[in-house]
Amino acid sequence: MTGAPIPFLDVRGVTELMSKELTRAWESVLAHGHFVGGPEVEAFEMQFAAFCESTHCVGVGNGTDALELICAGLGIRDGDEVIMPTNTFVATAEAVCAVRARPRFVDVLPDTLQVDPDAVAAAVGPRTAAIVAVHMFGQMADVDRLVSLAQRHGLALIEDAAQAHGARLGGRRAGSVGDAAGFSFYPGKNLGALGDGGAVVSDDAPLMSRIRQLANHGRAEAGRYLHDARGRNSRLDTLHAAVLAAKLPSLDADNDRRRAMMNRYRERLPTDCVVLAEHPLGESVHHLAVVQVPDRASAIRALDAAGIGWGMHYPVPCHRQSAFAEFADGSFPVAERAADRILSLPMSPTLTTEQVDRVCAVLASAM
Ligand SMILES: Cc1ncc(COP(=O)(O)O)c(C=O)c1O
Repeated sequence: MTGAPIPFLDVRGVTELMSKELTRAWESVLAHGHFVGGPEVEAFEMQFAAFCESTHCVGVGNGTDALELICAGLGIRDGDEVIMPTNTFVATAEAVCAVRARPRFVDVLPDTLQVDPDAVAAAVGPRTAAIVAVHMFGQMADVDRLVSLAQRHGLALIEDAAQAHGARLGGRRAGSVGDAAGFSFYPGKNLGALGDGGAVVSDDAPLMSRIRQLANHGRAEAGRYLHDARGRNSRLDTLHAAVLAAKLPSLDADNDRRRAMMNRYRERLPTDCVVLAEHPLGESVHHLAVVQVPDRASAIRALDAAGIGWGMHYPVPCHRQSAFAEFADGSFPVAERAADRILSLPMSPTLTTEQVDRVCAVLASAM
């Protein structure tokens, strides 16, 4: 089957569509020259908090730092355990290890591949300090159950919303549910900067002022040259904030477009390509179009031959990564089975129905 190549992720196409707005944003920052902490940062923080239906936002260097700063701000430390799904990007575990706490991996649900709340409940122990609700692939984890578990045991609930800008569950937006949420603005995310960027969002004002301080060298409010916490440098650059503010107004429309393309996949994919289920009360923003296939090697061969991009999220769960081997206690049959079957198909707001139909036709002929 022939045709123009279809990229897995069309960052260039999205950037081209917005080139006027991005150039204007870029030029305004070049003109005033406040490249760190310029006025665009505060403006974007306010806009992004409002988008998330939350009250405070602190722009930081990337999504991993956002999660690490949340852990530090919540006082999570050496000896604490933080429960998280094993099927996540390793950054979730890295952030917890960075404050010297231990990731406690749990399994995921077979139909959605989101964290299994029963597995979380079973993993709570005397050292548990927090639960991370990772909103995988654009869909929110079952936060209703996780919130009540966290409340019952006096734990913090952290949202890892790096893949879920704008997602909802039961009407609530990603970023508005937990004690705090970490977002990534890596270029391929639903809201992407022109480089690395991230944010913490929360309603908790004292927590957010601690996080702002930690992200800015522990600088005290009392004075620029006073440091009353051991912090670090993790700030959202002004240029990125300006670009993100220019892109934010079209994020809901971009997410609608992704939803329409996912519906098309659902209608057209062969029955052997099983699309992940969605929570009946959820509104996914389809960061990734993940399917499970019985013969992934054949599917990949056919996509490669047709010039169609693909990905895998994630073929090696965290507990099987050598970097996290010391935390690999427990059994994770669902994540392990899924790791061999998952395949991410092209997904971008620029994707067309014709492209989706071609991907589906290629997979149908391969299976
Ligand atoms: C689930 C998840 N958490 C955290 C991160 C880390 O974000 P960043 O790459 O901006 O550090 C990512 C990024 O890919 C992610 O997908």
